[in-house]
Amino acid sequence: MTTASTRFDAWTQGQSYDTYMGRWSREIAPRFLDWLDPAPGLDWLELGCGTGALTGVIAAQARPRSLVALDRSEPFVARARRTLAEDRVDLRVGDAAAPGLGPASRDVVASGLLLNFLPDRPAALSAWREILRPGGTLAFYVWDYPDGGLEFLRAFWTAAVAIDPAAQALTEGQRFPFCTRRDLSALVSGAGFRDVVSLGIEVPTVFASFEDFWEPFLGGAGPAPGYCDSLPSEARARLRNRLASDLGAGVGGPIRLKARAWAFRASA
Ligand SMILES: C[S@@+](CC[C@H](N)C(=O)[O-])C[C@H]1O[C@@H](n2cnc3c(N)ncnc32)[C@H](O)[C@@H]1O
Repeated sequence: MTTASTRFDAWTQGQSYDTYMGRWSREIAPRFLDWLDPAPGLDWLELGCGTGALTGVIAAQARPRSLVALDRSEPFVARARRTLAEDRVDLRVGDAAAPGLGPASRDVVASGLLLNFLPDRPAALSAWREILRPGGTLAFYVWDYPDGGLEFLRAFWTAAVAIDPAAQALTEGQRFPFCTRRDLSALVSGAGFRDVVSLGIEVPTVFASFEDFWEPFLGGAGPAPGYCDSLPSEARARLRNRLASDLGAGVGGPIRLKARAWAFRASA
């Protein structure tokens, strides 16, 4: 369902996605796996795998017996197939809310940066619980949007809203207010999972220059780039100048920000 705030959720250009967001998810994924510390030889299902940021790390670090990775975006799955070079991963196009795997067929259901994009999260979590074997593990992470934990995105929207107040409705902080440790915990428990444990994972996001910061917003892959893409060129230039000024880009040198994800694990 496309609504006013979801209309820029463009998940089609895999290379642009990787430059914009995938590169930071790739920083979170190994730390997430270190924390999960899963036993080898398990049957994994990864949902919303996108271009494979988490998939590659599961395949390399978790030594799974099997790994099914699924995303709704055909171009993203195609890119994951090209770049992962992992014939052990069964990559599929499908809906994470109804993955189509049998009951009690997986040991781990994992996802990175997906849950907030699903319209009916309680129903999706219940469907995932059915797929897990008794005692199996749910494991996921999402960005800390409400507290501005994804600092480059907060900088982008702060500048965008200052110029165009209507953009407020598009900000992830407004769209995903439940991406707090407390609310996500309640969501997972409410779906019938036990032993819910969470962790904040923070990574530096260092942009070599202002161009390195700005150009990923021009690729159209994701809500903020989709919004940027929709602007007439003059408005886009104004946004760029405002951001450059907010970030002190005139000084030159790298732009050092941080990104924080909330990671969860729980038992079925
Ligand atoms: C922010 S990206 C995360 C991709 C990847 N897991 C990562 O960490 O970089 C969100 C992904 O969720 C996928 N997605 C959104 N809704 C979905 C659904 N209902 N079923 C499957 N995938 C979905 C999008 O296609 C996109 O690849």
